[in-house]
Amino acid sequence: MSLNVSSVPVDCASRTILAIETSCDETAVALLRGFGEVLFSDIASQASIHARYGGVVPEIASRSHLDVLPLLIERAFYESTVSLKEVDLYAATAAPGLPSALIVGTSLTRGLALGAGRPFVPINHIEGHLLSPFFGEERIEPHIALVVSGGHTLLFDIQGFERYKLLGGTRDDAAGEAFDKVAKFLGLSYPGGARIDALAKRGDASSYAFPRSMLHSGDWDFSFSGLKTAVRSFLEKKSSRISLPDLCASFQEAVVDILVTKTLHAACVYRHSLITVSGGVSSNSRLQTKMKDACADAGISLRVAGPELQTDNALMIAFTAAHKRQ
Ligand code: KG4
Ligand code: ZN
Repeated sequence: MSLNVSSVPVDCASRTILAIETSCDETAVALLRGFGEVLFSDIASQASIHARYGGVVPEIASRSHLDVLPLLIERAFYESTVSLKEVDLYAATAAPGLPSALIVGTSLTRGLALGAGRPFVPINHIEGHLLSPFFGEERIEPHIALVVSGGHTLLFDIQGFERYKLLGGTRDDAAGEAFDKVAKFLGLSYPGGARIDALAKRGDASSYAFPRSMLHSGDWDFSFSGLKTAVRSFLEKKSSRISLPDLCASFQEAVVDILVTKTLHAACVYRHSLITVSGGVSSNSRLQTKMKDACADAGISLRVAGPELQTDNALMIAFTAAHKRQ
């Protein structure tokens, strides 16, 4: 059966790409030309819907994607004045993520691609985060990449586009997950990472001593569940006269210490002069400051994606698709 998909080679630097992201609780659509001309990008967050349940409810997430996605796609074409026929490539996050949420985005995008007779490119969400610090550029330089999000804490040795070696990852909770769970213990609403970050700015990070698990484990893995449990036990034992800003700052410092120390060590061992940090937790102000200072001391360059590319978005999916020879 011929699906009549156009395979006319279009110069990668000028391709128009429609990308969809629905892996968790953000519905995002982007239209990108080449590697960095943003024609449209918007994110509809469901955070306030899930906040009352204290975390993401997959069934609600997928239904919400189904409601919002067609409207967002319609707006993308209307506001950018790009037509369906002008899109050279259709991309959507295919994994990892909530299966029922991913199906909404991939099915719809695949359908659009099929209707327009253009290729559909499934994109890995982690690769999207991983490449986001290079947004706008064709060349992906060799580097050490730290991907820190709600679902992942991963360290990679990157030699170039599609030349990724996974060095290690979390053995239990992801860094963002630890932020969200500790925020829940503290009665802060979901997602709690940004709330802890904001409160920590008024606190003293040396107030309470929390463990730095696996700091010198001799591998590139992480573990945050012990730290999360340490905070919970501390709260159970000392329920009165605890300073919330001091507690947030002390917990955050422990997470940041582990992430910075292991990433810098990997850059030294693998002889890289560039580090990138991506994913939702890369928004953390203390992580950015401490990583910047540590990199400056070690003579290593640091790249963190712009704010609009840190938490889940469709631009990083479009950008990754822009590099695929499809
Ligand atoms: O990349 P992302 O949007 O979604 C996943 O792929 O998981 O990351 C979301 C995570 C959440 O756990 C959220 O609490 C965390 O990123 N996050 C932060 C901050 N902003 C978002 N964690 C710490 N500090 C922040 N400022
Ligand atoms: Zn993500």
